[in-house]
Amino acid sequence: MCGIVGIVKRHGKVVRDLINALKKLEYRGYDSAGIAILSDGEIYVTKGVGTIDKVIDPTKDIKDGSVGIGHTRWATHGEVSEENAHPHVSCNREVAVVHNGTLDGFNAIRNQLMNRGHVFSSETDTEVIAHLIEEKLNEIRDPVKAFSRAVYELKGSYAIASIIKGHNLILLARNKSPLVIGIGNGENYCASDVAALLHKTNRFIFLKDGEIALITPDSVDVWSLNDGIMEKVNRRVEIVDWSPQLLDKGNYEYFMLKEIYEQPYILKKLAKSVYYYKRFSDQLLKYSERGGISIVAAGTSYHAGLIGKFLLSKLAGARSEVIIASEFPEWSSHIGKDDVILAISQSGETADVLEAVRIAKSKEAKVLAITNVPGSTLTRLSDENVFIQAGPEVGVAATKTFLAQVAVLHILSSLISQERTLQIKEELLDISDSLESSMRYIDSASRKISSLLMDKEHVFFLGRGINYPTALEGALKLKEISYIHAEGYPAGEYKHGPLALIEENVPSIVLIPIDDKIRKKIIYNIMEICSRGAFAITIQPKDIDVPSDFSLPLDVKSELTSPMLYVVPLQLIAYYTATSLGRNPDKPRNLAKSVTVE
Ligand code: M6R
Repeated sequence: MCGIVGIVKRHGKVVRDLINALKKLEYRGYDSAGIAILSDGEIYVTKGVGTIDKVIDPTKDIKDGSVGIGHTRWATHGEVSEENAHPHVSCNREVAVVHNGTLDGFNAIRNQLMNRGHVFSSETDTEVIAHLIEEKLNEIRDPVKAFSRAVYELKGSYAIASIIKGHNLILLARNKSPLVIGIGNGENYCASDVAALLHKTNRFIFLKDGEIALITPDSVDVWSLNDGIMEKVNRRVEIVDWSPQLLDKGNYEYFMLKEIYEQPYILKKLAKSVYYYKRFSDQLLKYSERGGISIVAAGTSYHAGLIGKFLLSKLAGARSEVIIASEFPEWSSHIGKDDVILAISQSGETADVLEAVRIAKSKEAKVLAITNVPGSTLTRLSDENVFIQAGPEVGVAATKTFLAQVAVLHILSSLISQERTLQIKEELLDISDSLESSMRYIDSASRKISSLLMDKEHVFFLGRGINYPTALEGALKLKEISYIHAEGYPAGEYKHGPLALIEENVPSIVLIPIDDKIRKKIIYNIMEICSRGAFAITIQPKDIDVPSDFSLPLDVKSELTSPMLYVVPLQLIAYYTATSLGRNPDKPRNLAKSVTVE
């Protein structure tokens, strides 16, 4: 994972800007952080364990200068320690690098470098890059050529930013890890994603795999590196229309709460742009008529994918399968050139999803992508893509992007079925209004429910039909931010095993269907668990009588759209349980927003 950033200016200093940009990248990793600055001809490094605020205090005596790079880390190679925190420098301190990704076979390079006299001060794969560049600079003093020679020797995934003593420039390389260049006036930037730089610019160049770049205060040059030969390429400057305010918590204590509260407005926006999805839905239909649709996603996006499968079948009569991205290599032997992959990823950078897409492409399958982040790798790898238009999501727990993914899957299935095109627009507006007017009520009821869960070891989430994936999502939210064990289950499957875990006072949160037939079945399921002492909490349509110990009635109008309503209390229950337990829901332990390792 990790976030990297770099700034080079004609005039002025970079430390404060680096800190601001790094803070926007903390969601990518936050176990250690650091910066390297070129000042008075020397490279100065400040780094350590902990968050950026803890490690870098700009009011203290930190050297400042007109060029610098920074890093926020999510450890992969080497424990969390000051030595392993980035940036890393070469033996002669002529080179500093920050890196996101993992290098293959770095031990062999490290041993060769040590045999040639290099002394390493960390256990990281990244440090080999600094020493390699130093060696190449000894062969050739041209920094770009020396850098490209070093990069040519690297295998694996990397986004690299490097500064070199005596030069007001930053060198960049990208392969399978995200890296964007931001264009300023008399200054230029680089970062792992656009969100880090929105407060500086909305003009970006998106590097492709296998490219290297040189940025100075007034210029950006990009080359592709083919078999070690550099070929100059022209990259278009693209405008990103996200506003920097979206990256501000405002009066909310955490981004997660702010993002939950943004949901009614996102639905409204999506309702107004139904026809933006028309071309994509036509493509989906066209390819699905030739072969099968395989939905590929991870985590929360996988749960949205399950709902997508349900909707494609129910509304569009289309057959599809859903494959967890990390399992795709082993489960995709049947996929070939007539098939279409529908890749769903908020970040567009999840390594498992990208790997699945690469495998699918190697089999000549078509790739259609649904993502949230402009310029993300997935948008570049896919044949067609659409955005879910949720704006940047900072909290590690996906909330508004799940709702937006589900809404987009509704729109696509409705466009394919044609009959429902107008109806889906009305439905989205209706859910948006209903959420907007009941948000405070849902909030306070969810807070009460969270007080019933705080001291529990296990919580179960049960749903049927289209709300079985919603139950999975509720369990994922609770476990990832509160650290309470939670399991989501199809309610009918429960008696085939998990029922053995039910004992006195174990809470089960049950999502009640609006449809009579399914509801009858789930009522039996509630009775089964309650007769074994379970504590049943129901989230349910209003004016319906269901046995439960605590109920949260909502204004649900249709079974098919109910996940968009039901998921909101589930998000808030997780949020309040986590915060009451003193956990930071925006930065759950061991997790990062973008999982860029397989
Ligand atoms: O960016 P993506 O949608 O590909 O991310 C997939 C998962 O890593 C992500 O949904 C993860 O499960 C979230 N932390 C869930 O809240």
